[in-house]
Amino acid sequence: MSSSLAAMDSFLQCLSASIPSQLLYTQSSPSYTSVLDAAIRNPKFLTNTTRPVWIITPTNASHVQAAVLCGRRNSVRLRIRSGGHDYEGLSYRSERPETFAMLDMVNIRSVRVDAASATAWVDSGATLGEMYYAIGKAGNRIAFPAGLCPTVGVGGHFSGGGFGMLLRKYGLAADNVIDAVLVDAKGRLLDKNSMGSDVFWALRGGAGESFGIVLSWKVKLVAVPPKVTVFNVPVTVNQGAINVLTRWQDVAPSLPDDLFIRVIVQGQRANFQSLYLGTCDALLPVMRSRFPELGMNRSDCKEMTWIQSVPYIYLGSSATVEDILNRTIAMDTSNKATSDYVRQAIGRDTWSTIFGWLARPNAGLMILDPYGGQFSSVAEAATPFPHRGGVLYNIQYMNFWSAASGAGDAQRAWIRDFYAFMAPYVSKNPREAYANYRDLDLGENVVGAGGVSSYDAGKVWGEKYFRGNYQRLAMAKGQIDADDYFRNEQSIPPLVAGK
Ligand code: FDA
Repeated sequence: MSSSLAAMDSFLQCLSASIPSQLLYTQSSPSYTSVLDAAIRNPKFLTNTTRPVWIITPTNASHVQAAVLCGRRNSVRLRIRSGGHDYEGLSYRSERPETFAMLDMVNIRSVRVDAASATAWVDSGATLGEMYYAIGKAGNRIAFPAGLCPTVGVGGHFSGGGFGMLLRKYGLAADNVIDAVLVDAKGRLLDKNSMGSDVFWALRGGAGESFGIVLSWKVKLVAVPPKVTVFNVPVTVNQGAINVLTRWQDVAPSLPDDLFIRVIVQGQRANFQSLYLGTCDALLPVMRSRFPELGMNRSDCKEMTWIQSVPYIYLGSSATVEDILNRTIAMDTSNKATSDYVRQAIGRDTWSTIFGWLARPNAGLMILDPYGGQFSSVAEAATPFPHRGGVLYNIQYMNFWSAASGAGDAQRAWIRDFYAFMAPYVSKNPREAYANYRDLDLGENVVGAGGVSSYDAGKVWGEKYFRGNYQRLAMAKGQIDADDYFRNEQSIPPLVAGK
């Protein structure tokens, strides 16, 4: 037997001593493909990529600890998947040839809400929909500020920041984490106190997979009124979308914190989508005085509870609250995404040119999320997420193609060329990007002779996601995983003092 085959055998034997066999899958197991594919959200990663040699579906912390100890002993790395929404699929695949096992957190997903203290313990394998549902059941005056898509996993989302319609008032999901349970590269089970303040700081938005496996997060819940108001106002270019968008850039980041108005720009239309923490009666005067250009009126208002707004905004007006529990989503298109931050409003003429880009064949779309408010007054170094004071809004670019229509060359070329066109109009030195909208075109780790990712090479992508916080993240990584066991193409490299 070759030494690598012997190591693989020994890894499996080691796992089998602590983890029941029905939670382990090798590539020859009959259900390997269905377990792997169940949370692949981008069909382009279903084939032609390096897949895990083993899948482990732990049901408790001791299984996770055993996987780490067996992995270290046999030089098998682990990738961790919670919801599988990583834009580059790094939770379940590798860009480079590599022998690795995937830990699928799907069985560790309970949500325990304590309405009296307005806190909850949420396991990483829960989806945002499962978390929101449990919070909604516990009361109609509590909520949690995280992303819009109910199938996104808590584990990856919190690890990279996490924002949605409550961002301007309550910040990121990661801003509201008050404790966490982590299994580190030595297989230790740590909480906020035992992991140390630098690692706890790093987990909350700084690429969590670099530091270990987060099992659970304790979060503080936030207050919402019993009625919120939602509106969706589409404006076409012929109806004046260029003027309204130009104005939105100044208005949206300076509105009261209770009002969040995002824009989806696609084709020749801008869709203004909003959540307001209050009634329509209270919202109308604000809209009339602050943003009359949108022409929003009473007939646009839909009042509902916060939990009802979750399916309404993301899944459509006919979706029910139960629909957010559905973990499976239609997967008929592949996609490519990337992001930017805007610190100075883009001029009217440029918007006109942008609509030209959006009218081209194979064009994608832009999602604009306004910052400002309470969110932007948080210091840049308070958490790893640095895009705070001075940011007007985030842009997400996305393009789609059907699985049947090939590799998406034209759609990927559109996004690459449009991103190049946007360079003069967005943040610079570094050109900032949002870690949760992962894009390997921004750069990849270079692994040195000792098997450790290079700190200097990582700056290329790391300073785009984390600006000045990249160095502190690398030092936190050096404290907890100096050997770089938890590694992927964009994990934080370790920086160890004196080395
Ligand atoms: P996945 O399981 O793929 O993990 C992502 C990364 O986190 C991987 O590197 C993985 O190893 C690591 N990881 C996962 N679980 C971990 C754990 N327990 N411990 C340590 N590391 C772990 N974002 C946003 O801010 N607001 C939004 O509204 C949306 N909406 C949205 C919609 C759709 C359709 C997609 C595909 C994506 C988004 N996102 C988003 C982006 C999303 O926040 C991001 O992709 C998250 O990392 C996804 O987390 P998952 O657990 O689903 O992914």
